[in-house]
Amino acid sequence: MVLMINGKSISVPYHLYNVSLLDFIRDTAKLKGTKFGCGKGLCGACTVHVDGDAVRSCQETVRDIIGHNVTTIEGLSGMVPGAQLHPVQEAWIEISVPQCGYCQPGQIMTATAFLENNPNPSDEEIREVMDGNLCRCGTYPRIHRAIRHAAMGDHYADR
Ligand code: FES
Ligand code: FES
Repeated sequence: MVLMINGKSISVPYHLYNVSLLDFIRDTAKLKGTKFGCGKGLCGACTVHVDGDAVRSCQETVRDIIGHNVTTIEGLSGMVPGAQLHPVQEAWIEISVPQCGYCQPGQIMTATAFLENNPNPSDEEIREVMDGNLCRCGTYPRIHRAIRHAAMGDHYADR
């Protein structure tokens, strides 16, 4: 069996079927952008996309994800043909969101999945969707501004 991560197929040996998607991404696929925070589905640091939806990878086993498409922070720019960075990543840079940076891949993966389905969100909707992604450095106001900034950019303008 293979797992599709960022458009590439990676063989899954039988003995890894029951490991978490997070461990597989980090230890087997060697993609270290997705972070381990709580391991209990509570912090959002491990968020990736599965078929475009934001998913906490610490709470999924590889077995349950086989046959689906996984995108990690490393593959995010691939959502936009020809782009080096996803527009949400550019907004993050523009607003200088990160402090230590540890939670930021998860924040960005949650934000991008959200904006794909809701390109013109209200402040309340942004607060609601980002509520479960924790940041020990307290970058919440800048995260909020960056999402708003991205939503106003060309990428989401004509949706
Ligand atoms: S590490 Fe998965 S939600 Fe915290
Ligand atoms: S930037 Fe440090 S935990 Fe969020």
